[in-house]
Amino acid sequence: MIYLDNAATTRTKPQAVIDAVVQAMQTMGNSGRGAHDDALSASRIIYDTRVKLAALFGCDAPERVIFTSNSTEALNIAISGLFSPEDHVISTDCEHNSVLRPLYRHGNVSFVPADAQGQLDYSEFGKLLRPNTQAVVCTHASNLTGDLLDLERISAFCRENGLLFVVDASQTAGVIPIDMTQLGIDVLCFTGHKSLMGPQGTGGLCIAKGVELRPFKVGGTGVQTYAQEQPAEYPTRLEAGTLNSHGIAGLNAALNYINAIGMDTIRQKEIALAKRFYELVTGIDGVTVYGDFSSWDRAAIVTLNIRDLDSAQVSDYLSEYFGIATRPGGHCAPRLHQALGTVERGAVRFSFGWHNTEYDVDMAVRAIAEVARP
Ligand SMILES: Cc1ncc(COP(=O)(O)O)c(C=O)c1O
Repeated sequence: MIYLDNAATTRTKPQAVIDAVVQAMQTMGNSGRGAHDDALSASRIIYDTRVKLAALFGCDAPERVIFTSNSTEALNIAISGLFSPEDHVISTDCEHNSVLRPLYRHGNVSFVPADAQGQLDYSEFGKLLRPNTQAVVCTHASNLTGDLLDLERISAFCRENGLLFVVDASQTAGVIPIDMTQLGIDVLCFTGHKSLMGPQGTGGLCIAKGVELRPFKVGGTGVQTYAQEQPAEYPTRLEAGTLNSHGIAGLNAALNYINAIGMDTIRQKEIALAKRFYELVTGIDGVTVYGDFSSWDRAAIVTLNIRDLDSAQVSDYLSEYFGIATRPGGHCAPRLHQALGTVERGAVRFSFGWHNTEYDVDMAVRAIAEVARP
């Protein structure tokens, strides 16, 4: 199987990640709440992972790195914990349902529209401002097209208007540098199983100094047992219940792996593969590619359709006859599909990861040429 669905989850995990999870399952007991050796080994690894993530994302204190089971949970915590019903929020048409649905549930939200090429007009942000606008919540990269949003520009808009800035870094964490302090990000949500190459069931949010979130869930924390309220201090304020310390141990090993290779090296390889693929497929008659490829400052995603074929049909064909795994359909990005005009047939996404090779690219291109043949 040639796996080109890395934007959903990276399937080939570094052996060190697998080993770390197995070792954690053999050695960790109580996940960090207690003074016996097993609890201490869990709490050390959990704390060390907070330190590494804080360094990776420019979060100024490891205590404000909160673990969740994925970025969907992190985004729910951020959106439900920051806003009151009267607060208005600005978001964009480029979002994944894990941003859209919590915002639809919140209710008071406006979206910067994307055009038929999936691009945002940044002057629209100002037009959506209201006296009660509290924040901008947006993604770093579209999971459908791979296009990056201009975080610097949005951050400047937030600063000028005294707004909070919440970023969904699901598609970029681990492969594109993000410094939340430098970018003025108040809450950064990430997932562990995509470019961070960690296990599924890991993720979290990093919270800037002075940003207060109400707890999404409350319960046991191993501290302040006799208090009726959730502890006020991070991280326990937002971490009720037993943590996924086995997964966090795997994420720790994944961070070591990325740090040893260097994010830049990983990124260059993934982008070189995406570029090779893009240049070859755009030469095939009948292929339509979505998104902005005028710059390679983007995620390693190329999404396309072939002639008037349904994306599910194409993806099934690629899987059955060529052993190539891609992602068809709606990609949980309904507003962007609307903008691109691909609601009916969806689109086929090819996403490249650290473990892919030029051979994978060339096989995928051959398969597409075959499908596109009139
Ligand atoms: C842009 C974006 N946001 C959020 C998510 C949700 O990630 P998770 O399923 O890990 O919660 C995804 C996953 O595909 C995504 O691509």
